[in-house]
Amino acid sequence: MVALVGDNGAGKSTLIKILAGVYGSDGGTIMHRDKPVSISSPSESNALGIATVYQDLALCDNLDVVANLFLGHEIGGRAIINEVEMEKRSWSLMQQLSARIPSVRIAVASLSGGQRQTVAIARSLIGEPTVVILDEPTAALGVAQTAEVLNLIERLR
Ligand SMILES: Nc1ncnc2c1ncn2[C@@H]1O[C@H](COP(=O)(O)OP(=O)(O)OP(=O)(O)O)[C@@H](O)[C@H]1O
Ligand SMILES: [Mg+2]
Repeated sequence: MVALVGDNGAGKSTLIKILAGVYGSDGGTIMHRDKPVSISSPSESNALGIATVYQDLALCDNLDVVANLFLGHEIGGRAIINEVEMEKRSWSLMQQLSARIPSVRIAVASLSGGQRQTVAIARSLIGEPTVVILDEPTAALGVAQTAEVLNLIERLR
């Protein structure tokens, strides 16, 4: 685990978004497995095995947990989405992270801050990444939820 520390406005989120392919960089070099790489889109970042959990979580409040986890990576053919398979995988992912979530079929809007954070972290694991970047994962959480998320990060490692 590596921590990046800085004051408000120091540029932590900006650096993370550069690594996620959201922003382009003005200068510098990104080294990946000892080779310089350029990351000009989120899919290029994903292809390098980098997954990002943004500071604002970027969840869709109106969608349920399953839909949020698989957004843009839905399982199934051209016209049919395999809801059963996605739900099964969602449960196993939640179990893997020991997440305490009442149901994977409830809207994310009705979850607590810690539970939402867990969903955001779980979503980053869908593509089996080699690096997970978390932007201030406990900033908005209480003492118990912070402990829960820190535990989660430990298990994730
Ligand atoms: N889209 C943008 N366009 C222009 N300036 C921006 C943009 N996003 C952030 N900034 C500025 O860049 C600087 C760094 O912001 P950034 O969000 O990376 O800080 P941070 O270290 O993540 O801070 P915090 O701890 O508050 O989350 C700030 O001065 C901010 O106002
Ligand atoms: Mg920030």
